[in-house]
Amino acid sequence: MAENKRNIKIAPSVLSADFARLADSIKAVEEAGADLIHLDIMDGHFVPNITFGPGVVAAIRKVTRLPLDVHLMITDPAMFIPRFAESGADYITVHLESGPHLHRNIQSIKKLNIKAGVSLNPHTSIIQITEILGDIDLLLLMSVNPGFGGQEFIERTLEKIRVARRLIDSAKYNCVIEIDGGINDKTGKLCIEAGADILVAGNYVFKSNDFKAAIASLRP
Ligand code: DX5
Ligand code: ZN
Repeated sequence: MAENKRNIKIAPSVLSADFARLADSIKAVEEAGADLIHLDIMDGHFVPNITFGPGVVAAIRKVTRLPLDVHLMITDPAMFIPRFAESGADYITVHLESGPHLHRNIQSIKKLNIKAGVSLNPHTSIIQITEILGDIDLLLLMSVNPGFGGQEFIERTLEKIRVARRLIDSAKYNCVIEIDGGINDKTGKLCIEAGADILVAGNYVFKSNDFKAAIASLRP
């Protein structure tokens, strides 16, 4: 599908925000035109970093009307899906690499009436999710190794986006493609051309001194 027919959305990742002023930072990106708020949950096991849990998500829920896009980088998503649902998540995304029961985790998320996402690390092939692509609302392709903001975009992701776009469009699945890691005004455009629907941007938005200009510059 042509990129101008798709509704491209921008999801600032609060990982790069000032955690001591989280509410202000979130309100600021909402006013600056963000479409979703991307929340990176890290447990120090699945990735070598720790962020925050459902309590902080619930607090964020109170300060914005934007959809909360919760990206679980944790080894035991099944244990925490209900807690993040209660906290007000609109999307819950689990990693394929986090365990053997991806289908069960997707079912659990959908039973809670939350949109279900699946994320793939850079080394994981799209082929591994062809059986569940028709069941999910969002496919999150990592364009860096998960764990940290501010890393360099992995160019090979572009071909992965093209393959995903073809699979989704040819089967007419109702699944959006989100790209996460190393997104800026240049890499973001390449992702949109390749077929992305949602761009996550941490450093590019939060380390800029003009959130509105940064978000606008990511749009096609
Ligand atoms: C990385 C996270 C990303 C991160 C992206 O593991 O999933 O959401 O915040 O940060 P940037 O946009 O700085 O690469
Ligand atoms: Zn993320």
